Amino acid sequence: MDYEKKELEKLIFKFKEINKLLFLELSDFYDINFKDENSDIVDDVDGDFSKIKFNSFKISSVNINNPVIAAPMAGISDNTYRIFAKYPGCSLTFSEMVTSYGLIYNHAKSFEITKLTDYEKPCAIQIFGNDANVIAEAASLIEENADIIDINMGCPVPKVLKTKSGGYLLNEPETIGKIIKKVKRKIKKPVTVKLRIGWDENKINILGIAKIAEGEGVDAISVHGRTVKQGYSGKADYEYIKKVKSIVNIPVIASGDIDNLNKAKWVMEYTGCDGLMIGRAARGNPWIFLQLLLGLLVSNNNLNIKNYNVKKNIILKKNQYTLLKFANSGEANDFTNGSEANDSLVNLRFLISNNLKADYMLLYLKFLILFKGEGKAVKEFRKILGWAFKGKKDISSIKHEFFKINTFEDAAKILKNLKCS
Ligand SMILES: Cc1cc2nc3c(=O)[nH]c(=O)nc-3n(C[C@H](O)[C@H](O)[C@H](O)COP(=O)(O)O)c2cc1C
Repeated sequence: MDYEKKELEKLIFKFKEINKLLFLELSDFYDINFKDENSDIVDDVDGDFSKIKFNSFKISSVNINNPVIAAPMAGISDNTYRIFAKYPGCSLTFSEMVTSYGLIYNHAKSFEITKLTDYEKPCAIQIFGNDANVIAEAASLIEENADIIDINMGCPVPKVLKTKSGGYLLNEPETIGKIIKKVKRKIKKPVTVKLRIGWDENKINILGIAKIAEGEGVDAISVHGRTVKQGYSGKADYEYIKKVKSIVNIPVIASGDIDNLNKAKWVMEYTGCDGLMIGRAARGNPWIFLQLLLGLLVSNNNLNIKNYNVKKNIILKKNQYTLLKFANSGEANDFTNGSEANDSLVNLRFLISNNLKADYMLLYLKFLILFKGEGKAVKEFRKILGWAFKGKKDISSIKHEFFKINTFEDAAKILKNLKCS
């Protein structure tokens, strides 16, 4: 990674400032009380909300401060994505999946995926493959960079399945056991696996696999509540995640369709899981991490933020931002069965002002440019912008402009217009 460290520090400083503003918008919505009672929540998070400790747990030696976790997403969860997940509160980030063969054959592209900055940690680097020795060797090559090594055992992409990797492994519980055993023997860092509930509806074997994985010493398990054959169709099945949690003694992270506060709260309560993995709902929507974290805190009546300097420091800037209010905001605290949740009010994506979104996104692009250069960054940014402003009134009339962005200036101009509109 060929970036200017000083430039990165400057961007991080700006990012912390804008996260304080984000907090202000959200805390306004939640009507957060600043109690002066004892709590394990840090005094002053200084724009890094991942420091807030709430329902924290450990993956072996790694502290996971809160349950809100950013899912691995190939083509998406890069350095910028992870930084933009962490500072708004996400407790653990994941890399995009990287091929174990690419690592052992020293492919620069594969190593590029594994490079981390200090600003996205703790981070699990995810690898995939089909051979226990190769995966273990690959893990040892990157273990120094990673806080955790995660092994993908759920990917449904045909190209990956063809190589008997990813979700294919669910057909071979013994191979799963071998892989974990070898990797655990080879490296010192914690080892986790990300699974689906089975190959197809006739072969749901997550419970046996979870026991094998635990038996071989895996340090935590993430479960996407779908079969491999399902891809992304249908709904995530939380029943099996709940069962997994009830039979293992290691942390369990739930994944699948967690896209709003109601759902997050419901999945935690229903499954008893330790962590919640947020995937698609966080694309172009990094605010969701703080929204969920604050929402979970408030709903647990556990928001005792001591001497919250953040609030004092930023109060003056507040008027620059138009706060989007809902007449009936109390509804967001009406936690009913998450699976029935009505998205309109509880999907907190819509509770951020376009002003703040635009500033946030411009900064996102600056990070992307720093890591990838302007050409690549602006191309990737087009789709991110589409996700960020999804649902905005009249967006269809502006959206085609996103695909004409070729430079930073083009993007800045569009974002300025989005602020005004
Ligand atoms: C574009 C995309 C890429 C993904 N890439 C990975 C990956 O590299 N490794 C992995 O374990 N899961 C991957 N996933 C699965 C997610 O981590 C997550 O388990 C799944 O999307 C369900 O969660 P969600 O409903 O919150 O999106 C990917 C999902 C999407 C949508």
